[in-house]
Amino acid sequence: MKCRVCREPAVIDIRRHNANFCVEHFLRLCRDQTAKAIEEFSMLSPGDKVLVAVSGGKDSLALWDLLVELGYEAHGLYIGLGIGGYSDRSGAMVRDFAQARGLELTQIDLRADYDTDVPTAAKATRRVPCSACGLSKRHLFDRAALDGGYDAVATGHNLDDEAAVLFGNTLRWQTEYLARQMPVLEARAGFPRKVKPLVRLGEREMAAYCVLRGIDYIVEECPMAVGNKHLGYKEALNEIEARSPGSKHDFYFGYLARASHRFADAAPGVSSGTPGDTDSASVGRCERCGSPSTSNTCAFCRLIEASAGAQPVTITEKGRLK
Ligand code: AMP
Ligand code: FES
Ligand code: ZN
Ligand code: ZN
Repeated sequence: MKCRVCREPAVIDIRRHNANFCVEHFLRLCRDQTAKAIEEFSMLSPGDKVLVAVSGGKDSLALWDLLVELGYEAHGLYIGLGIGGYSDRSGAMVRDFAQARGLELTQIDLRADYDTDVPTAAKATRRVPCSACGLSKRHLFDRAALDGGYDAVATGHNLDDEAAVLFGNTLRWQTEYLARQMPVLEARAGFPRKVKPLVRLGEREMAAYCVLRGIDYIVEECPMAVGNKHLGYKEALNEIEARSPGSKHDFYFGYLARASHRFADAAPGVSSGTPGDTDSASVGRCERCGSPSTSNTCAFCRLIEASAGAQPVTITEKGRLK
């Protein structure tokens, strides 16, 4: 197995590119693919100040590393979600990464700062944990980016994530979600610009990138997400990809090029939020926190209010609520 670029021994094969790469040229490929996505979708301009949402997983830590390498002023944002030992371990990974490289990191902790956590808030509002979690993350990403004067929030969604979400939304023709599934969402009143610079790179490549760059990341999945539909869609797409390399890429990029415009009207004032939550078209302001909201109080403030004084819910390592 030889590197496509230099013919030296290769360390990784990428079937959808029908090519193998040595360490140096694989790392260069990751940087080039990130830069290409940023340029192709006009995600960032040179010198932009970017807030990278980092979970402690391979994708977001690799993204932070790549954006710094590409010359952006990239600061991290970690949200402690209070998901038992999983959150403790992922927070430690992020802090170690930032400290070792002297990078600026903002930390928000649901328990310390808002007196709740994902399991407790989910139970208090009768939401599934992933919904309480997603809502909290979106709200806190937006706030931190606007308060800190950042040009954009970057998340570590990769090609596998985006193809799986697209697959799920297409299976059920969820047109409002389809309209929101873009690699860049422009800033609007009360919302920062949101970008996904890893859409040209797959999960396996991001894991290899971390190993080769010496980045320690949390390997375990969130215990609350185990067995969810999204993971099932990923598995289904992996089977298709194994038989027909390049399918995920063609599915996702074909959608962006040839079909996404057909859904643009399905979500007025496109944003990345859950439909109907807080960020449809022209909205008022939350009377507590000032964020855009269709009702007097935004969904995040309602979540915090509903969990006030609630008995904290703990979770087992298997993700069950106790
Ligand atoms: P997920 O929703 O867990 O698939 O994560 C998608 C992206 O959201 C990650 O790649 C990160 O950029 C960001 N993210 C997830 N969890 C956190 C967290 N606890 N703190 C900050 N960013 C996060
Ligand atoms: Fe949000 Fe698991 S990371 S529920
Ligand atoms: Zn090479
Ligand atoms: Zn609010």
